[in-house]
Amino acid sequence: MSEPIVIAIDGPSASGKSTNAKIIAAALGYAYVDTGAMYRTLAWHALQQSVDVNDAAAVAALCSDWPAKLVNREGSIWLEVDGVFPEAEIRTEETSAAVSHVAAVPFVRDWMKERQRSCVQFGNLVMEGRDIGSNIFPETPHKFYMDAAAAVRQARRDADGVSDNLAVRDQRDSTRAASPLKVAEGATIINNAGETPEETSARIMGLVEERLN
Ligand code: DC
Repeated sequence: MSEPIVIAIDGPSASGKSTNAKIIAAALGYAYVDTGAMYRTLAWHALQQSVDVNDAAAVAALCSDWPAKLVNREGSIWLEVDGVFPEAEIRTEETSAAVSHVAAVPFVRDWMKERQRSCVQFGNLVMEGRDIGSNIFPETPHKFYMDAAAAVRQARRDADGVSDNLAVRDQRDSTRAASPLKVAEGATIINNAGETPEETSARIMGLVEERLN
């Protein structure tokens, strides 16, 4: 059997990764993996357990004991704990403010990498995040980096009615030592300002198809 195909979609917050990744996964029948949700789930867990997210050793200890497992819920892959996926809780302002601290901890990144690479057990993937093309699946030929101006991205998040300081989070995500957000070698940069998600995802699928043939 041939190796599963992995489409890696990276980029800063509110760059359109989730919208496009979901459209592409549905159109191609691939599993959809939102790695940001995995970091958010751990950040939520830390808040629940009153663990200081600025204490890297405490976050690493919490993560190493965390009995979270990957599950496939109708084509989307999530981390669940005791059968629970805290879908709404991971999008709160509090969790958003905590997540980039948790995501900077080297132990957490190694832990996530192991789980994220093992997602090929679910078949072909569309995986979105910050380091998918650079660190999780550097071998995939299908790497995309989505971008849009900071003001456009903040306006999108505000329009969702979500309070989230993207500039602060993006700064932390791009400057951390452990697998920071960056354009992966060989990635195609997709600037989607002024395009509909359908147009952008069609463009990405066209590029994937060219590489597959
Ligand atoms: O995509 P998102 O906004 O839901 O991601 C939440 C946070 O997780 C974001 O601040 C950066 C971090 N993250 C990461 O460091 N690496 C990933 N592969 C995905 C997300």
